[in-house]
Amino acid sequence: MAKKIIFDTDPGIDDAMAILFALAAPELEIVGLTTIFGNAHTDLATQNALRLLAFAGRDDIPVAHGAPQPLQRVFDRPADFVHGANGLGGVYLPDPVLQPDPRPAAQFIVETVMQHPGEITLVPVGPLTNIALALMLEPRIVERVAGVVLMGGAATVNGNVNPAAEANIWNDPHAADRVFTAGWPLVMLGLDVTMQVAMDDAYLASLRSSRFGEFIYDITRFYLDFHRQVHGEYACHTHDPSAIAYLIDPTLYTVEHGPVRVVTEGLAAGQTLMDRRGEWYSPNAWTPYRPAGVCTGVDAARVLELYRARIVDSQTMEN
Ligand code: RIB
Ligand code: CA
Repeated sequence: MAKKIIFDTDPGIDDAMAILFALAAPELEIVGLTTIFGNAHTDLATQNALRLLAFAGRDDIPVAHGAPQPLQRVFDRPADFVHGANGLGGVYLPDPVLQPDPRPAAQFIVETVMQHPGEITLVPVGPLTNIALALMLEPRIVERVAGVVLMGGAATVNGNVNPAAEANIWNDPHAADRVFTAGWPLVMLGLDVTMQVAMDDAYLASLRSSRFGEFIYDITRFYLDFHRQVHGEYACHTHDPSAIAYLIDPTLYTVEHGPVRVVTEGLAAGQTLMDRRGEWYSPNAWTPYRPAGVCTGVDAARVLELYRARIVDSQTMEN
């Protein structure tokens, strides 16, 4: 049976790549998209989520509009230098016809999880504000979710905003610490693994025989230019699609276990710090918390093959 997921997202080029991947995967059923600021302001993220579902012919899936701001910080700088002013690399889809769900994202998450106990996996791939707000609204969702599989953080490598912080965690570290310490089964796909999987131009061109793949090729032109400027290679990292790859096939990843706390203030704000030392140390601020699964290794070739298989094989140009 397909795993039910709520995909919490800030589309976003790699968010769009992940949404199409999930829609193309028979292993998964998206029961809702919830939106958040990050790559764009939340208003634009919601419009883009609606646009992407219409493009995919799946506007039966509800979209719930999320928080406009972090719990305590001020968000004022979308990552338009990475994703373009429209969030989709300057590729324009028609304006949405449908409206978002009337419920705020946190309420949508709570009600959906409580209605389907044990069935819903939360899959946040942006700042964790909506998930933290859902926890505050209804703490019992901790026992009612199937789990949380998120893209964010960096446990064994540097961040991408600064040496300490990855962008999703940086944008709301207070929310992230609540999510990592909530006590639910949680798996983190951070920069540790997402930067090990590179999609180069030839790979992206190989997706173009499908309608989804053609769109992915188009939106990644801007993204590749950004990666070339910053990393010197005409290839993009595979951030948000990694969460979907894990859900489809966890054996693609090596997972370490340890409690993770998020630094919320100071020079290292936004850092995801995992205790990797084992259990013999004296009690500390990590000790009371359920260990997270942190992906630290990945079979990159198999992830790329899985992504191509789902994007190309299940959605040919004729469909
Ligand atoms: O650091 C990568 C993450 O930041 C991805 O989720 C990307 O979409 C941006 O939100
Ligand atoms: Ca994202």
